[in-house]
Amino acid sequence: MTIVDLFDRIAPDYDEVVPFFADFGRQLLDWLGVVPGTRVLDLGCGRGALAIEALRRGAVVTAVDAAPGMVRELAAHVPGIDARVMDAHRLDFADESFDLVVSGFAVHLLADPSSAAAEVRRVLVPGGRFAFSWPGAWSTEARWAFLGELNREFAAYAGRERRNGNDAEAEDILAGFDDVADAGAEVHLALPAVDAYWDWECSHGSRAFIDALPPDRRAEYRARLLAEVARLEPLEIDRGAEFWRGTRPRSTQAV
Ligand SMILES: C[S@@+](CC[C@H](N)C(=O)[O-])C[C@H]1O[C@@H](n2cnc3c(N)ncnc32)[C@H](O)[C@@H]1O
Repeated sequence: MTIVDLFDRIAPDYDEVVPFFADFGRQLLDWLGVVPGTRVLDLGCGRGALAIEALRRGAVVTAVDAAPGMVRELAAHVPGIDARVMDAHRLDFADESFDLVVSGFAVHLLADPSSAAAEVRRVLVPGGRFAFSWPGAWSTEARWAFLGELNREFAAYAGRERRNGNDAEAEDILAGFDDVADAGAEVHLALPAVDAYWDWECSHGSRAFIDALPPDRRAEYRARLLAEVARLEPLEIDRGAEFWRGTRPRSTQAV
């Protein structure tokens, strides 16, 4: 199963347990300072964490995702939104169509982020901005040390590691952009119950790792994970993100 198939399948539950991606979406748009009338493209929009927030701020929004289920959920939730099924590597838009392209927690999942960034640069007006987020560090990470240890132990059974982007990759992706900047962000979201943590892990990209575990190992992983989560005080999900942004050069020769 590809990563897009996975997101297609989990779309009905995505960001429904706690508003994790919605919270980061709001913070990313705060960092960018989106003003009414801005033509925004949300790339890998999922259920619209960024698109919905940009609409709320008066932007003119187009949202695209390769998973039809995500686009269906977004269109059902926001009637009339311009949401389309589209691959980030081949954008079906004319040159210079947008003032801002945003992408929440999607760029590190792409097969070729640099070619997608070249497409982003093409559809941005000169002086337009590209911003994306991916998982990053957070202040209460020490409380979650058990998670890294458990994931390293079970990676052998899953036959895969969880992977995030890093600073060098971000700089590569933004190589054709000016004014590159980054910032850290974090969320702290109360969990209604210990089991809700498992529901949350199953409702986003971590599901690929969980599904890759053989059933007996998956049951063991769940039991050990929830035993650790039950010890958290307060009972909340803490996570971090890194925000990145760059500006399409005003002179085309600078690209
Ligand atoms: C972790 S979700 C993030 C969704 C949303 N941006 C958010 O912040 O909640 C990653 C999204 O990227 C989408 N995606 C993955 N590969 C893609 C591609 N090649 N083109 C477009 N979307 C893609 C997935 O379908 C999924 O909806």
